[in-house]
Parts: sequence; C-alpha cells; structure tokens
Amino acid sequence: MAGLPKAELHLHIEGTLEPELKFELARRNGLGLPYGNVEEMRAAYAFDDLPSFLKVYYEGMEVLRTEPDFYDLAMAYLRKAASQNVRYAEIFFDPQAHTSRGVPFDVVIRGLRRALLDAEKQLGVRAQLIMCFLRDFQAEYAMATLLESLPYKEWIVGVGLDSDEKGNPPAKFAAVYERARQEGYLLTMHCDVDQENSIEHIRQVLQDIRVDRIDHGVNILEDPALVAEVVERGIGLTCCPISNGYVTDSMKVEGIRKLLEQGARVTINSDDPAYFTGYVQENLEALNFTRDEIVQVLRNAFEVTWLPRHLKDGYLAELEAAAVRP
Ligand code: ADE
Ligand code: ZN
Repeated sequence: MAGLPKAELHLHIEGTLEPELKFELARRNGLGLPYGNVEEMRAAYAFDDLPSFLKVYYEGMEVLRTEPDFYDLAMAYLRKAASQNVRYAEIFFDPQAHTSRGVPFDVVIRGLRRALLDAEKQLGVRAQLIMCFLRDFQAEYAMATLLESLPYKEWIVGVGLDSDEKGNPPAKFAAVYERARQEGYLLTMHCDVDQENSIEHIRQVLQDIRVDRIDHGVNILEDPALVAEVVERGIGLTCCPISNGYVTDSMKVEGIRKLLEQGARVTINSDDPAYFTGYVQENLEALNFTRDEIVQVLRNAFEVTWLPRHLKDGYLAELEAAAVRP
C-alpha cells in the first residue's frame, strides 16, 4: 500500500501544524505558548466532538503570522505527503481564521502558493488550493472573502465550507456559492458526520447548491435515493476515518465500505493529521480493506480530482501499473 500512488483531497493545511513546528513558529514570532514542551501540548489535545476539536484547532494556528510561516507549514505537509507517495493534493485553507485575527489574506496565500511551486519542483508532488469559508461566521464575511480572493483566482481551484455545522446549514451560503460558481471556482462543502439535520444538509448541497464534491458525507447512507444520486452524478465523497473516530462514536468504516460497494466514489483522506494522529497512509491502514478495495479508493481519488482529464489519466495509469506489481 505504501508504494501505491495516492491523491489526497480532504486536508486542512492548518490541521497539519505539528507541535514541533508550533514551538518553532512561536519562538520565531516572539509568542508564548501555555505548554512547556511537545508532549504537554499533545496531552492537551482533548476533544471528542467537532466543536471541542475546533477550539484546539483555532487556538493552535495563532502562531501562524508571516508569509514564511505559511510556507513552512505547507512545505512540511508536502514533504510528509511525498514520503507516503501522495502524488497530488487538493489543500484546504481557512483565510478567515487568519484575516479575523489581523493576518492579511495576501500573506496567507502567497506563503502557501510559494510552497506549492517549490514542492512540485523539489518533491514531485503537485497540489492545488481550495479556499474554505467558515460556516460559523456570517455569510456576508464569506462573500467579502470571496471577493478578496478574486485577484488570486488563478491560484485557487475551488471553494469549500468548514467549521461548526450545527445551526449553519448549506442554504446559509447559497448566494456565496452561486457567485463562486460564476467566478469559475469548483464547489465542495463539508457535510460533517452525525450532525443535526445531516441528511437535509446533504440534500441541500446536492440539489440546491449543486456541488461538485462532498467532504465527509457518510450519513448519505440513511437516504438510498441520495446515494443513487451521487452514484449517478459521479460525485466524490472525501471520507476521513481516523478523524471520524475522534469527533464521532466510530471511524464509520462499515459505512465507508457500504458506499464503496454501492458504487459511490469514496476517497480516503486525513483531514487534520497533526491533531488526529494519522496521515493518508495511516487512514488507509485503519480501514482493514482488501487490496482491491484500497486500489478502488485510490482510483476514485484520482478520478474525482479537480485536474484536467489528461493528468487524471496519467496518474490512473501510474496507479494501475503499481497495483499489478506483486
Ligand atoms: N476545520 C478543520 N477540520 C474540520 C472538520 N473536520 N470539520 C469541519 N471543519 C473543520
Ligand atoms: Zn475537514
């Protein structure tokens, strides 16, 4: 499995901030941290649902201040990804988590962009950025962020929606998503696992917003007609088993397998690996899937990437060649 080429499509760059780098950035920026060392910091990662995770996640990213900070963050992830044979990544970033505390949009995106260019040259990993809006902020702030992103449109492949889903349905962002589509962005959205109104949220993203992909979304199994719809439309579902294990009652492995069996384009990803203690390889291992099932989820991932057809086909050919080797 380690040798197979992979694509990662559900990865929050701020969720890759490992404690070691947090300490280094705090030192660089002259900031104090409420922990004496890396072990103490990790021990304080106590969360058992989405809101308690998000609190730790937003606190952690306060050490990110300058363009080199964002560059180092993204380079560290891309190095780790390359070591697991990730050949292509679509990387979420949360600009509002930074602009809301005074770090300019331009600083964030320039650091990330420079890392992506260097990683492609130095590591052979290709990557694109997906800009996420925070759903627990007002829709007006998301719209303002969308407008602020337009000068950098060539650097952003699509938009997503993350943060706390409770009380923040997809419909709240319908106008933002409509404008994003008009601007040429591709569309995805978190449908986090076991949320209040999970099925209604999944219905909204599929039928009202008409997204190109869904992040998480395993609750779709509760409505066979919606499963049939994602199968028919070839919509990808970016699942994250270890993350599920932290913020819900289980990794939802059986649900993921059922979706795969029913022909949904399920993919396996790491979400926030510095907090959920596993990158894409560990998430694949956690499933205990057969080799054929693993190859199928890797195939699905390349198939639902936001890449042009000829690049998808190149990666798929690489995967098939690697998969037949004994
Ligand atoms: N932000 C970072 N990780 C997230 C997740 N798993 N769900 C919602 N928002 C997030
Ligand atoms: Zn996520």
